[in-house]
Amino acid sequence: MIPLTLAEVATAVDGRLVNADPDVRVTGSVEFDSRKVTAGGIFVAFPGEKVDGHDFAEGAVEAGVVAVLGTREVPGVPMVLVDDARDAMGRLARAVVDRLPQLTVVGLTGSSGKTTTKDLIAQLTARLGSTVAPPGSFNNELGHPYTALKAGPETRYLVMEKGARGIGHVRYLCELVPPRISVVLNVGTSHIGGFGSQENIALAKGELVEALPADGLAVLNADDPLVSAMASRTEARVVFYGEAADADVRAEDVVLDERGRGSYTLVTPEGRAPVRLGLTGRHQVSNTLAAAAVARELGMPLTELAQALGELGLVSTRRMDVFDRPDGVTVIDDSYNANPASMSAALKALAALGGGRRTVAVLGYMAELGQYEYDGHAEVGRLAAELGVDRLLVVGESAAPIHEGATAVGNWGGESVLLTDQAAAVEVLREELRPGDVVLVKGSRYRTWEVADALRAQASGETTA
Ligand SMILES: Nc1ncnc2c1ncn2[C@@H]1O[C@H](COP(=O)(O)OP(=O)(O)O)[C@@H](O)[C@H]1O
Ligand SMILES: [Mg+2]
Repeated sequence: MIPLTLAEVATAVDGRLVNADPDVRVTGSVEFDSRKVTAGGIFVAFPGEKVDGHDFAEGAVEAGVVAVLGTREVPGVPMVLVDDARDAMGRLARAVVDRLPQLTVVGLTGSSGKTTTKDLIAQLTARLGSTVAPPGSFNNELGHPYTALKAGPETRYLVMEKGARGIGHVRYLCELVPPRISVVLNVGTSHIGGFGSQENIALAKGELVEALPADGLAVLNADDPLVSAMASRTEARVVFYGEAADADVRAEDVVLDERGRGSYTLVTPEGRAPVRLGLTGRHQVSNTLAAAAVARELGMPLTELAQALGELGLVSTRRMDVFDRPDGVTVIDDSYNANPASMSAALKALAALGGGRRTVAVLGYMAELGQYEYDGHAEVGRLAAELGVDRLLVVGESAAPIHEGATAVGNWGGESVLLTDQAAAVEVLREELRPGDVVLVKGSRYRTWEVADALRAQASGETTA
């Protein structure tokens, strides 16, 4: 973070200094995990239910922090006292980014692919200048300011994923860290249970472009009507990306290779260049175009851009992570999370990788679908069957509609089974997998992780096939 004095910190967070020297400069990091504090930094003490951060205040001071930001005094500890520590961290983040004129904040949101695309954008901007981006899916009211506070005078780009579970969430995150470039990927049905309708999801995601200053840039998916319609919600310039003929940054002649990796001709107002992705999945064409639109705006020349897109890799785990086991089984670990759109993307990737090989899909429950719960699952099952997946393992009673959707497809040549839990799925895989098979593992969070981990463990150790 940039050096602020404690007096400036107190002003920024509307707090009161106790036992603290107002002229002391903050030179270290802002941490809320006492094990991570650094000399010259600040420790934020949250009043937790099980552990109270204030209990670690003295230890943090011993470790060299110049002050503790908290909600009650701790004897002998230099403190910035506030009413609400989380709110204070947000205000501090805002004060810091406001003092970094050289910083360009890129915000992105969407129903699927935020973390993936955040990582893609950050890999591109890192070629242009010092970049800060959160690890994994650190995208809420806590992760957001925490990440922003990692930016300093040397930082040129801050890439932030903005998750939304309701109207006003993205707007709030944008108040903490205002974007100059806002990227909206897609409007699907993730978290639709809380939103009620897709229109409401579009309303919430669009807050990201509403937050733009007039000299900002909206990067919108031309292939998603609910996203491209957001152009009317901002005064800022708009760049459209996608495969639509009128997209400013677009992909033509898309083909997938036998590993499900896309190649395309990147077309921008500057010209055309061939791109060959190392990432698996048709959906990565769209994600890489979004990243390309951002890098182009930030000045990356076309040929360098096309080259850089080909060198993009995976950063966050369990997202379309494809690996080959020594026994000849290929695994797609996409188990981080799932919603109908991302299930569809993953099943298509499985089909693309399949190409003559036997395909197996291990699918679990998708959370937060609300009234779409049954239909959302059934549709995924139907799609799996229609794509010709050979073997479907549906994990858990809550995911049963996937099984029902698949078996309802009359001319499907594959077979589905409903299993009680992950252990049962691991067992079936142990018995059934043969060299050459391709297996996709996907579900909401921890619900299928174990299966992916079991397949991975077998890859590095004893295999049964
Ligand atoms: N553009 C996209 N459209 C549809 N599905 C996608 C897209 N990008 C990624 N996915 C799928 O969504 C899953 C979750 O990706 P992630 O980047 O973690 O999304 P988010 O951060 O939005 O939850 C991926 O593993 C992949 O299956
Ligand atoms: Mg995420």
